[in-house]
Amino acid sequence: MIVVANLKAYMTYEDILKYKDNIPNNVIVCPSNLHIPFFLNHNYKVGIQDISIYDTGAHTGEICASQVKELGVEYAIIGHSERRSKETDDEINKKVLKALENNLKVILCIGENKDENKNEKIEYQILNDLKNVSNLDNVIIAYEPVWCIGTGVTPTNEQIEETIKFIQSIFQKNFTTNAKILYGGSVDKNNINTLKKINLSGFLIGKASTDYEHLKEIVDSLS
Ligand code: PGA
Repeated sequence: MIVVANLKAYMTYEDILKYKDNIPNNVIVCPSNLHIPFFLNHNYKVGIQDISIYDTGAHTGEICASQVKELGVEYAIIGHSERRSKETDDEINKKVLKALENNLKVILCIGENKDENKNEKIEYQILNDLKNVSNLDNVIIAYEPVWCIGTGVTPTNEQIEETIKFIQSIFQKNFTTNAKILYGGSVDKNNINTLKKINLSGFLIGKASTDYEHLKEIVDSLS
């Protein structure tokens, strides 16, 4: 099971000093950019929460894929809904291609808002964000309904299963391989035993992952 801990911008320096040595093995931890160096060289993997569309050069404030890779970061979250309002699918596609070119594994977040046609939105995101990507070996899809992120609400298992099948059908029609699929959005220790009954490759966890004891309880339930 893949477990991604998206720490967003939640933690202070004091918090991470306590947190960084207590993360279960094999979790993919995605701290804020500033904190990444503190998480390297442990028994877990490290991801970045976003990358630049640019290569190295005159791009103030940007962090490019080659710099990320050279430091030992292995994963890049791309297209998280908390960033999508500031970027187009064309830019997300450029980020995906840059990450893959630099041998980073991509965690591509997709998902609909409450008022959107779910299947249309998801198909649009997959086809546009993965344009010119031929090999999905290094692509993980995180299905995160926007209305479930940070809200304490999750879809029913049946609703998630139906969406996962739809995502798989898009891959079967348009790609030669399948991608691994995670669920994300208000996953915590109270709902993990229900959610784990779904046939998934794992979970992307936000707020609940910022407490290492809570994260450990989730990981233990999955093992
Ligand atoms: P949440 O966030 O678990 O706090 O809902 C998930 C995410 O945004 O990736």
